[in-house]
Amino acid sequence: RGPLVLAAATDEVGVVAARLVADHVRGHPTGVLGVATGASPLRLYAALAELRAEGLVTEGLTLAALDEYVGIDPGDERSYHSYVVRHIAEPLGIPESRVLVPRGGTQQDAERYEATLRGLGGVGLQVVGIGRNGHIGFNEPGSSRHSRTRVVALSDDTRAANARYFAGDADRVPSHAITQGIATILTASTIVMVASGATKAWALDAALRGPVTAAVPASFLRTHPSVTVVADDEALPPV
Ligand code: GLP
Repeated sequence: RGPLVLAAATDEVGVVAARLVADHVRGHPTGVLGVATGASPLRLYAALAELRAEGLVTEGLTLAALDEYVGIDPGDERSYHSYVVRHIAEPLGIPESRVLVPRGGTQQDAERYEATLRGLGGVGLQVVGIGRNGHIGFNEPGSSRHSRTRVVALSDDTRAANARYFAGDADRVPSHAITQGIATILTASTIVMVASGATKAWALDAALRGPVTAAVPASFLRTHPSVTVVADDEALPPV
């Protein structure tokens, strides 16, 4: 089958996705949870924390991030490391020692992260968002289906989209990032994508209904046997 698509009201996207994540976590309480950054999954993480308050056991998880900027210190509040600690690890009671985020700007750094993930037996459930140009992680258009963790240049469009975290100035957004590759992401046993808002409509339509192509990296999710997309009507207008 292709991805399972669940339509949800905008303010329910995160809640619906959190239930899927919670179902997985119940079966794998000491597993590796793959996490995405960005605005899209924030509600999901908040909803997971609410489920924790109701008894979901999350403290034993290891968190593995998709990507990180090159040249932004982990302690910098704009780093994805900080995001994962602040929005996911702390609310879920997971120690920072079990927060894994790729770090550095060399091929050796990339290979080290890939080896770390492999050493843990890989990611169980992976949460992903989608960039408005169809990227996942920081796999920009043109990324191969076979790509692994590596250092990449960010597109002008992605730097513009993320300028809001850098005083509104796209020139201040790092030019490079280190990201899990498409093949790395697809090794997760199951994948949950969240998307909301009209800015994602082009990318989501192309990813789910267009050709499977490196021009739209998220379209490669259709080659994975277990993907669920939770989206609102603005991101995925009903056909
Ligand atoms: C960022 C991240 C992605 C994220 C995407 C969408 O650049 N690297 O992992 O999914 O862009 O972000 P947002 O959810 O803020 O729209």
